[in-house]
Amino acid sequence: MIIGVPKEIKNNENRVALTPAGVAELKKHGHKVYVQASAGESSGFSDDEYVKAGAETLPTIEEVYAIAEMIIKVKEPIASEYPLIKKDQLLFTYFHFASSEPLTHAMIERGAVCLAYETVEKTDRSLPLLVPMSEVAGRMAIQEGAKYLEKPSGGKGILLGGVPGVPPAKVLVLGGGIVGTQAAKMAAGLGARVVIMDVSLPRLRYLSDIMPPNVTTIMSNHYNICEAIAEADLVVGAVLIPGAKAPHLITRDMLKLMRAGTVVVDVAVDQGGCIETCTPTTHENPTFIIDDIVHYCVANMPGAVPYTSTLALTNATLPYAVQLANKGWKKACSENEELKKGLNVANGKIVYKGVADAWGLELSEVDDIL
Ligand SMILES: NC(=O)c1ccc[n+]([C@@H]2O[C@H](COP(=O)([O-])OP(=O)(O)OC[C@H]3O[C@@H](n4cnc5c(N)ncnc54)[C@H](O)[C@@H]3O)[C@@H](O)[C@H]2O)c1
Repeated sequence: MIIGVPKEIKNNENRVALTPAGVAELKKHGHKVYVQASAGESSGFSDDEYVKAGAETLPTIEEVYAIAEMIIKVKEPIASEYPLIKKDQLLFTYFHFASSEPLTHAMIERGAVCLAYETVEKTDRSLPLLVPMSEVAGRMAIQEGAKYLEKPSGGKGILLGGVPGVPPAKVLVLGGGIVGTQAAKMAAGLGARVVIMDVSLPRLRYLSDIMPPNVTTIMSNHYNICEAIAEADLVVGAVLIPGAKAPHLITRDMLKLMRAGTVVVDVAVDQGGCIETCTPTTHENPTFIIDDIVHYCVANMPGAVPYTSTLALTNATLPYAVQLANKGWKKACSENEELKKGLNVANGKIVYKGVADAWGLELSEVDDIL
């Protein structure tokens, strides 16, 4: 198969969908890979490295779309890319169709085959192509939180790990899923006193078993949250209710329970946030202060660490990309339920319920197009 890797052109997107190692793997299976010049630069991969791995570079995005049977990307195509997409071209990338009606209509009109990273699903209902970014964001939440706890950043001026003779900071993590677990691990590793809350008792049991002694698990409810935020120096929001907006576990009036200079990092801001006063921010302007509480609410945290994020993402996507290239999308999706769940749009039809529901459009049976 002929595979194309365009340079990401969405604002502030520095990741790339394939590393030189990925190119070498696809070459090994007999495929041809075309990478747009400088596509990997922001992630730390030079054109030379791609060429050494067996790719050919093309100077423009138009040439990449024109030659490729499968396009591997990171973010959804933006409007300027729509006209470049060919009928029956396979696009393997994040789409998040339910948040963009124009994108949905554009892909239907272009006749593209859209396999969305975010809906590839394992039988245990986990989302293997979202997990790596949650891991990155969870770990980053503590790094960012530590930075904004510094006085010049507006925080209360406390070092997460303390020093001999001075107690460490207190970190509260709301939600003990992927993001919360990684955040708690990082905070604990730095020596902070960590509380992790979840509504799932089995999850709390698991966390209690695997976490170091400076992590305490507590059931998430309004009473316990009010008590914990009064003590916390750093609060990480990491709650997810699949398919729904995040619940506001910390409301505006609860901010007065917190001490001035406390930092909140609401990782769940992309689902509306679990702290009521959080609204999405960017890496250029990541924080704002309300009632003396520093709010960090960057909606694409992994974008700040493209080297790590690219490797983490491509580790997860490459095995699926190889299957798609080896078998073609129809056979690959017929034989692999995980990939089949990733099909959102094909042959001008919507085949993923969440997308059809989001825009009140007709849903077609995925098996009818395979
Ligand atoms: N900002 C970013 O850059 C970024 C990056 C990656 C992920 N995210 C977001 O982070 C959020 C968390 O993702 P995840 O992968 O950890 O999800 P996850 O499903 O692994 O974990 C969510 C956890 O929240 C728990 N939960 C649900 N209701 C709760 C409540 N009332 N109190 C406490 N816990 C509760 C669940 O039991 C679950 O354990 C998602 O909204 C995701 O989209 C944001």
